[in-house]
Amino acid sequence: MKLSASLALFGPPGAGKGTQAQRLSKALRVPHISTGDILRQVRVEGGPLGVEVNEIMRRGDLVPDTLVVNIVEARLAQSDCDTGFILDGFPRTPLQAQALDHILDEQGKTLDVVIRLDVNEAELVSRLAGRRTCPRCGRAYHLRFNPPLSDSLCDDCPNQPLQVREDDREETVRDRLRIYQVETAPVIDYYEKRGLLKHVNGHVPPDEVFACILSLL
Ligand code: AP5
Repeated sequence: MKLSASLALFGPPGAGKGTQAQRLSKALRVPHISTGDILRQVRVEGGPLGVEVNEIMRRGDLVPDTLVVNIVEARLAQSDCDTGFILDGFPRTPLQAQALDHILDEQGKTLDVVIRLDVNEAELVSRLAGRRTCPRCGRAYHLRFNPPLSDSLCDDCPNQPLQVREDDREETVRDRLRIYQVETAPVIDYYEKRGLLKHVNGHVPPDEVFACILSLL
């Protein structure tokens, strides 16, 4: 049986998109495309663009649509995306959703399913407060729900200390959640109308969320 392998994971900050995208990428053997990770790399590379992106991300705002759309267009054109891809954090505005349709048409690709992870706000805030990430491989941990094997070191990258993401400070988290409601939530309608949207309860442990997503593909 062939599983659908072109999907987008959708949901508010802290819903578990990155956690599930990493697992799905391994299971389905298709690339995980996280616009957040790509933009964090742009920030590290510096230059005028890096400085601008850094400022926007620190505030928890969205970077301009054109920049993100160009990044995704170039990434999807790479040959490893020919058999599928997992989009994490994109599209995040109705304009990005329309641009994605155009890109996929041009590249002869399709999006099979959009998975929305449903998690309530109190849980999101608690997850982001306890999140630690590996700056080398991007893997996310949680101090209580998903701790690393050894205190504050990445399980996969030898001797690599974990970090707190700058935009996980509580006041920035609240801003990110507000921006999600205003700018990103309308994308749900876009995919619901096209019959591509599936809801998954994101409140259960990561293994259960993963099993539920697989059952939908
Ligand atoms: P991005 O990196 O995409 O952040 P986000 O969407 O806000 O999502 P997060 O990474 O915070 O959460 P997640 O849903 O991936 O949860 P995770 O799996 O880590 O974007 C960052 C910034 O980049 C944006 O603010 C914006 O500035 C910019 N940007 C990115 N894309 C853009 C775009 N398209 N357009 C414009 N700007 C863009 O899990 C969170 C925590 O919970 C972890 O600690 C994890 O271990 C834990 N956890 C996960 N699942 C569970 C579970 N089931 N139970 C308990 N704990 C769990």
